[in-house]
Amino acid sequence: MDTLTLPRPDDWHLHLRDGALMQAVAPQAAAAFARAIIMPNLKPPVTTVAEAAAYRQRIFAALPEGSSFEPLMTLYLTDNTPPAEVERAVASGLVHAVKLYPAGATTHSDAGVTDLLLCYDTLAAMEDHGLPLLIHGERTDPGLDIFEREAAFIDDVLLPLLDRHPRLRVVLEHVSTAAGAELVTGDDPRLAGTFTPQHLLYSRNDLLVGGLSPHRYCMPVLKRESDREALLAAATSGHPRVFLGTDSAPHPRSAKESGCCAAGCYSSPVALALYAEAFEAAGALERLADFAGRNGPAFYGLPINGETVTLERAAQEVPSAYPGGEEPVVPLRAGGTLGWRVRQP
Ligand code: DOR
Ligand code: ZN
Repeated sequence: MDTLTLPRPDDWHLHLRDGALMQAVAPQAAAAFARAIIMPNLKPPVTTVAEAAAYRQRIFAALPEGSSFEPLMTLYLTDNTPPAEVERAVASGLVHAVKLYPAGATTHSDAGVTDLLLCYDTLAAMEDHGLPLLIHGERTDPGLDIFEREAAFIDDVLLPLLDRHPRLRVVLEHVSTAAGAELVTGDDPRLAGTFTPQHLLYSRNDLLVGGLSPHRYCMPVLKRESDREALLAAATSGHPRVFLGTDSAPHPRSAKESGCCAAGCYSSPVALALYAEAFEAAGALERLADFAGRNGPAFYGLPINGETVTLERAAQEVPSAYPGGEEPVVPLRAGGTLGWRVRQP
C-alpha cells in the first residue's frame, strides 16, 4: 500500500498554549487536523466556560485566514469546580469535556484535584449530561515509583471512580502501560483511550539508553518495550473506543534541553506520519482511518469530517526545530526522516 486516504483526522488531546507560542503552533495543528480537544492547563488554568470561550477566540485569532480548524474546548477540573459550571459548559456548546489532572502529575497541574470525593456533585452533573471526563491517569504519591503511577491510578482511583459514578463517560488519555491498554480495550462502553505517537513508537530505552533524549520525555513517562507492544496492539486492534490523541505539548527548546527538562513532546506537524509508521509496523495500516478519523467523533457524538487526506509513501526530512514564538520548539523525530507524508492538494 503506497497511498492511504482517510477522513481528515482529529486530535483528541492537544496542548496549544497561549501567547506567542500558541501563535506559532496553532497553525501547524490546524494544517494537520480538522478539530482538536484543547487542553486547559494554561497558567492560570481554564476553569470556567467564560475563560474557555475567551481562549477559543484567541485560538481562532492565531489561525491562518480561511482555516476551518475547530477547537473543542475543555475545562480544568479543580477541587472547587461547581456543578453549575457543568451546566454552563453543556449549554455553551463550546466545551466538550472536563479534564482531570491529579495535583502535581505534570506541567501546570498544581491546581489539579487533590481528592475526587470533593468533586462528587460535579461528576454527578457530568453523568447527567454525558459530558466526558478526560483523565491524566497517574497517582502522584511521593513514594510511588514513577513507572508504577498509571497502574496504581487505575486500581486505586479509576476503578473506584467508575463504581461511584456508573454513568460517567471517561477517556483515559495517553495510555502508557499494558494495564491501561487492557482496560480501555475491554467491553465497558463508558471507557475510551487515546494513544500518543511517542508511546506507540518508543520505550524507555529510547528515552534513556545512550544518553537522555529530552525531546522524548513526557508524562506519563515512556514505559517498557512490552508495554509499548501492548499499546501498539491496542491502538491497532480495531477497537471502537481507541483513538488518536497526540498530547503534542510544545515547550521552548531551552526548557527541554535543560538541567530540569520540561515534560512534553511536540508532534503536531509530524504526528500523522508517525502514526502511519506505527500502524504499518503492526501490519494494520487499514485501521488507521478509524483510529484517526472515525472512533473519536463516534465517542464524542460529533460528525465524521467530510474532507479526506491522502498519505503517500515518501521520505520526508523532519526539521531540527520549528519556530515557536520567542524560541524554537523541537519536534519528535527532529533531524530524522518520516516514511509517509500528507499529499498536498
Ligand atoms: O508530558 C506532558 N506534557 N504530559 C502532560 O500531561 C502535560 C504536558 C504539558 O502540558 O506539557
Ligand atoms: Zn496532555
